[in-house]
Amino acid sequence: MTVSDAPVIEAHGLSKTFGQVAALRDVSLTVSPGEIVVLLGLSGSGKTTLLRHLNGLETPTDGRLRVLGEDMAALRGGDLRRLRGRIGMVFQQFHLVGRLTVLENVLTGALAGLRGPRLGIASYPREHRRRALTQLDRVGLLDKSYQRADTLSGGQQQRVAIARALMQQPEILLADEPVASLDPESSDQVMSLLQEIAAERQLTVICSLHQVEIALAWGRRIVGMRSGSVVLDTPAADLTREAAMRIYGRVAASLAEAK
Ligand SMILES: Nc1ncnc2c1ncn2[C@@H]1O[C@H](COP(=O)(O)OP(=O)(O)O)[C@@H](O)[C@H]1O
Ligand SMILES: [Mg+2]
Repeated sequence: MTVSDAPVIEAHGLSKTFGQVAALRDVSLTVSPGEIVVLLGLSGSGKTTLLRHLNGLETPTDGRLRVLGEDMAALRGGDLRRLRGRIGMVFQQFHLVGRLTVLENVLTGALAGLRGPRLGIASYPREHRRRALTQLDRVGLLDKSYQRADTLSGGQQQRVAIARALMQQPEILLADEPVASLDPESSDQVMSLLQEIAAERQLTVICSLHQVEIALAWGRRIVGMRSGSVVLDTPAADLTREAAMRIYGRVAASLAEAK
């Protein structure tokens, strides 16, 4: 095994409890560089909690986690910040600053690498501005660069959020239900963009979804989650719609029973 084939994520027996709630139960997961993994599960199944562990926003109650070769339990302060700089994130609600231009929003993606507060596009180094415009071109929104972010459609805002995440040249991109707020056409655009960018950059993508259809259409590897456990880990090609729906059906049934 060469260095570049070493797993980017290695979770062993990861568990997390919040008070009485077991959000993760004995989760083990190994992800190789350049893989696109879909975390599929209903609301409350633990997807966000798992993603938050992967960039050190949560500490596990039990288990071991290595990300990009680093033992997460041993990382503190500057070391943790540096690791986070290698991991990009996009969210369901985009988290853009609506009153700022699209370009400024993308520029903030590089803030971790800059000192001091920034006010206005001119306060960023020319090289950053050039890179931000390149990212905007890549996501097909160069012509919107100087528009306020809140004037864009949801799908466009998510593409801006992806451009912002790419500013830090991440090795891993975590996408937490990136299409949950979007119409089907925008969802397809965002999912295909994630897939293309992952392939171009050998970027590892972990994307949570709750929709079986989208997971089957875009996932390469599907990790199914239920009540904090991994209940399925399979190439999407081996997963029939019926099998996926059956898992979901059981999830829905067990949730209904629990109520
Ligand atoms: N900070 C928290 N405090 C208490 N409970 C939490 C917290 N975060 C998540 N949970 C609980 O953990 C479970 C998994 O949540 P989450 O990871 O958000 O699932 P998903 O993203 O799949 O909807 C849920 O029961 C949720 O209520
Ligand atoms: Mg969630």
